[in-house]
Amino acid sequence: MRNLQEDNITEAVLQTMEGTEDPRLKEIMTSLVKHLHAFAREVGLQQDEWMRGIQYLYDAGKISTPERNEFILTSDILGLSSLVDMIKGRGVSSGTEYSALGPFFVDGAPEVPLEGNLAGDDPGTEVVLTGRVLNERSEPVEGARVDFWQTQSNGLYDVQETHEGAVPNLRCHQFTGADGRYGVRTIKPVSYKVPDDGPAGEILRSTSRTAWRPAHYHIWVNADGYLPLVTELFPGDDDWIDRDAVFAVRDSLRVSFDDTADEDEASAYGVTAPYKKVEYDFVLVAG
Ligand code: BEZ
Ligand code: FE
Repeated sequence: MRNLQEDNITEAVLQTMEGTEDPRLKEIMTSLVKHLHAFAREVGLQQDEWMRGIQYLYDAGKISTPERNEFILTSDILGLSSLVDMIKGRGVSSGTEYSALGPFFVDGAPEVPLEGNLAGDDPGTEVVLTGRVLNERSEPVEGARVDFWQTQSNGLYDVQETHEGAVPNLRCHQFTGADGRYGVRTIKPVSYKVPDDGPAGEILRSTSRTAWRPAHYHIWVNADGYLPLVTELFPGDDDWIDRDAVFAVRDSLRVSFDDTADEDEASAYGVTAPYKKVEYDFVLVAG
């Protein structure tokens, strides 16, 4: 194509990709170019503004490590990660809703038995977190692996602790019994800020947003014959429940912490009645 101008440059770029063999890649790249060009036209993007965008990508790359991926955080705070989760859930009406994985999952967390203690000696508010893993017909799923991870009562994940002698804490996995039940003794999670000392934090500040996430438990359920479920549970009354920096709250994942006086359960979990209890059933979709 000759004499490239603002009104034909998009078409010129698309023509160069006509021969892309993978049809899905072609669809994605074509749409990406169309939308990027449309964005630049719509805002009348100036050279210095685009250089600022390039600088953002450069800075995000520089601060990223295997433990901290600033591009994922950027996708999170722009709502893109949650949108992709929602697209994954299209047409799946029966299973538990997906929510953010976040950057703090660690493979190989210790196994804690059913009714075991996830919280060690953390001084937070004691909670019994229990429920069942079910299939879409409400039948128990036996042998499902349930991974839990959450912040300590100081608002940090164990992997964010920098002091000498920091140990794995508040993360574990366990396997459901024949009745599909999981259960741990843990603590009430607390709200905390996503890392905001890098470029993503600059976006938050310069757009008058905050880095706070409402308190949550992270849960990842895996069982043979079912789609993996990555999700979260949120105390429904958290101050930040409607202002999650990463847009991961779903109404169906809001839970209450009910005062419970069941002496038998208290002794099974090693807590003192009355205690706080969260009961939540996860529903897996066959796949
Ligand atoms: C988290 O919940 O651990 C998290 C999710 C998205 C970005 C940062 C942290
Ligand atoms: Fe988290």
